[in-house]
Amino acid sequence: MSKQDDRKIILGIAGLGTVGAGVVKIIEKHKALIAARAGCPVEIKAVSARDRSRDRGVDLSAYDWVDNAVDLAEEGSGVNLVVELIGGSDGPALALARKALGRGIGFVTANKALIATHGKELAVLAEETGAPLKFEAAVAGGIPIIKALREGLAGNAIESVRGILNGTCNYILTRMEHEGLAFDDVLKDAQQLGYAEADPTFDIDGIDTAHKTAILATLAFGTEPDIENLPTEGIRNIAPVDIEYAKELGYRIKLLGVTQQTAEGIETRVHPAMVPTRAAIANVMGPTNAVVVNGDAVGQTVYEGAGAGEGPTASAVMGDILDVARGAEGPRLGVPATSLKPSNPVPVVKHRGTYYIRLRVNDQPGVMADITKVLAEENVSIESMLQRGSASDGGVYIVLTTHETVEASVAATLDRFTTLQCVLETPTMLRIEA
Ligand SMILES: NC(=O)c1ccc[n+]([C@@H]2O[C@H](COP(=O)([O-])OP(=O)(O)OC[C@H]3O[C@@H](n4cnc5c(N)ncnc54)[C@H](OP(=O)(O)O)[C@@H]3O)[C@@H](O)[C@H]2O)c1
Repeated sequence: MSKQDDRKIILGIAGLGTVGAGVVKIIEKHKALIAARAGCPVEIKAVSARDRSRDRGVDLSAYDWVDNAVDLAEEGSGVNLVVELIGGSDGPALALARKALGRGIGFVTANKALIATHGKELAVLAEETGAPLKFEAAVAGGIPIIKALREGLAGNAIESVRGILNGTCNYILTRMEHEGLAFDDVLKDAQQLGYAEADPTFDIDGIDTAHKTAILATLAFGTEPDIENLPTEGIRNIAPVDIEYAKELGYRIKLLGVTQQTAEGIETRVHPAMVPTRAAIANVMGPTNAVVVNGDAVGQTVYEGAGAGEGPTASAVMGDILDVARGAEGPRLGVPATSLKPSNPVPVVKHRGTYYIRLRVNDQPGVMADITKVLAEENVSIESMLQRGSASDGGVYIVLTTHETVEASVAATLDRFTTLQCVLETPTMLRIEA
C-alpha cells in the first residue's frame, strides 16, 4: 500500500447546531463521492456540543461524544482535523483553535468572529506548526469568496471588494422596499419567520458584516485583520422615506462591507449605501449575499449565492475539509502571517465620494438660501436637489445628492445644518457607492 493510500482524514466536529449537523449529513450522504474527491477516506471520529440528549436530526451513535470540545484536539483523541462550528470570538472556539493548531492539527472553521479577532495569531501558529487553517464558511456562507481571493485572483493587485454579506439585513431592506414597511415591523416579522435572531444586534448593527469585511480586507490587501478600527454602521436608522427617495433617484439601499485601495491608503468600512440600480449588487434581493471584486488584471468579478443556512454553510465547510485532504496548503491568510502589514486604515473622514443628504425643514422662504450657503462655504457641490411637500409630521423634505467630495466636508456641513433654525431634525446622510 502506498503512503497516499494510508492517508485518512479523521474528523472531530465541535458544535452540532445548524452548520455542524449539516456537515455530518453531507459526510453521511456523500461518503463515496467525498472519498473520491479527497483521494482518501474522510471519517468522523468524535463530536462535541453542550447537550448530548438533543435531537439533531442525525444519528450520532457511531461517534465518540466529547463533553469538552477542546479535548477533540488532545493527544490520543485520534482526530487529525478539527472542525469548529461553535461560534464566538473567544471561549471554547479559541481554546480549541489554539490547541489544534499548536499541535499541528488542521483546523476548519465557519467562525468569522474568531478569524476577524484572532486570525493573525492563529495563522502564525498554523504556519509554525504546519497545520492547515481554513475558514471559507466564515464569509458569505456558500459563496467561495475566500478561495477566489486567496487562490483564483492571487495574481491581481486587488482594487476593491464590496459585499452584501449579511442575509438578515438584505432581507429586511428588500421587504422594506417591496412592501413599504418600517424597519421595526419587518424586523419583528423576520424574527418570527426565523430570518433574524432573537437578539439581532450582531446582524442589524453591522457587526457580523464588519467581521466578514475585516477578513476580506486581510485577503485582499495583506493587512492584519482589524475589527477594532473598522467604522461600522448598521441599518436601524434606515427610514422608508429614504428607500422611496433612493428609488426616485435611481438607487437602492444596501448594507455594504467595503474594502478598497485609495490614493490615501486602504479604506475599510461597513455602512448602508445608495447603490445605482444598474449595478449588479443592487439587484441582489432577500437573504442572498453577493461580493464584487475588482482586480487590476481580471477587471470585475461578481459572486452571488446563499450566505447562510445549513446546506450552503456546510457546503463551504466541506470544501475546506476536501482542501485539507488534498494537501493544498499555502499561506493561511494569503501571505505569510508574519508578513501581514498593520491595517493602518484611512480614517472615514478622508473618504472621497458622493453623498445623499435628507433634511426636514420648515416650509418657509429663505430656507433654500440658508442650506445652499452652508454647502457653498463647506465646498460641497450639489449634483441634484429635490424639495418634496409635507413631511408627515410637519415641514418639508429637501433631498440632495453631492458631486464627489471629501467626507470631512460633508460632516462639517451636517453639523452646521443641525444648528440652522429651519432644520427640524438631525439630517440623514448616506454614502453613494458607484
Ligand atoms: N448558521 C449559519 O447560517 C451560519 C453561516 C455562516 C457561518 N456560521 C458560523 O458557523 C458557526 C456555527 O453556527 P450555527 O448557526 O451552526 O450555530 P448554532 O446552531 O447555534 O450551533 C452552535 C453549536 O455549538 C454548540 N456549543 C455551544 N457552546 C459550546 C461549548 N461550550 N462546547 C461545545 N459545543 C458548544 C451548541 O451545542 P448545543 O446544540 O448542545 O446547544 C450547538 O450545537 C458560527 O461560528 C457561525 O457564525 C453560521
